[in-house]
Amino acid sequence: MQEKLQEILTEVREKAPALVTRADFEAFKATISGPNGALTQTMKEMGRVPKEEKPALGRLINEVKGQISSLFDAVIERLEAAELAERLGPAIDPTLPLPDPDRGILHPIAQVREEIVSLFRRIGFSVAEATEVETEHYCFDALNIPADHPARDMQDSYYLPSDLDVANVARHEQEKYLLRTHTSTVQIRTMLKESPPIRIIAPGRCFRRDTPDATHSANFHQVEGLYVDKDVTLLDLKATLDYFVKSIFGPSARTRLRPSFFPFTEPSFEMDFYSPNLGKLSNRWLEIMGCGMVDPEVFKSVGIDPQVYTGYAFGMGIERIAMILQGVDDIRYYYQNDVRFLRQFA
Ligand code: DAH
Repeated sequence: MQEKLQEILTEVREKAPALVTRADFEAFKATISGPNGALTQTMKEMGRVPKEEKPALGRLINEVKGQISSLFDAVIERLEAAELAERLGPAIDPTLPLPDPDRGILHPIAQVREEIVSLFRRIGFSVAEATEVETEHYCFDALNIPADHPARDMQDSYYLPSDLDVANVARHEQEKYLLRTHTSTVQIRTMLKESPPIRIIAPGRCFRRDTPDATHSANFHQVEGLYVDKDVTLLDLKATLDYFVKSIFGPSARTRLRPSFFPFTEPSFEMDFYSPNLGKLSNRWLEIMGCGMVDPEVFKSVGIDPQVYTGYAFGMGIERIAMILQGVDDIRYYYQNDVRFLRQFA
């Protein structure tokens, strides 16, 4: 019987590595440990073995069964690995260059965002970010936007369900969450984290409940700028915006600041620019951003002393700049992902 067991083990050792399909494996396994398999049959002979030989034989049987079972496990592991490899197809090296020469381009809105950001980086601004989900406090109150401001209206803002708790968005109190309506929120979040001098540019996605038309989209992009230090004046703002406009629209562009109102700046302005070489849009004043000197109320809400520090802020819509630069007259083209449109900006 010992011999028989050795023979079975040798057979499994020899044949198992050559099995390549599950069907072959199952068939072979049946000849060993199936109801009529060699091992099962041999074990049945145990009853005829003299009593004193039983313990030793029992140990041998267990030993052989254990070895056979690990050999079978190895086969299953090998077959599964082969099946997975087959499903995955040939190995790929993700670091190789794309075989397709038409490898796509940055989206036109992203191109303009990158250009704006790089122009401000060149003069010492660094990029700041905050979440797209915000709370009423950081989106409005801290920016001195009063509770009855229309931007808070359910018609204008996307509020999130009131029983929601967003782990990575710190609340001031138990105020409501909403999707940020402007990137000015990044001013507040940055001033709470860092102390002056602060010089940041914050590109990002914003949301307002607008009915989409040629110039409005419920989801759009802005770039916010903020500079806080001692002795920052309106002249610094004007010089920075002049530099920006001439860099992006060409040296013959001119700028003007037109008095306006924003709750978070005092004084506030709309900045217009004028350029002789913009095709259809040439030689007329085009409004492209809001700006002004940071309101002392905003400084107070973030614990910066308005007696010591002053600052300027500005905010612009990326789509608006992109449409002027790229000659696009309907904002909806940017979101349709029609490659015939997108490829024009390669
Ligand atoms: N947050 C304003 C908006 O979405 C834009 C803006 C205006 C930002 C003036 C500013 C600013 O920082 O000073 O309409």
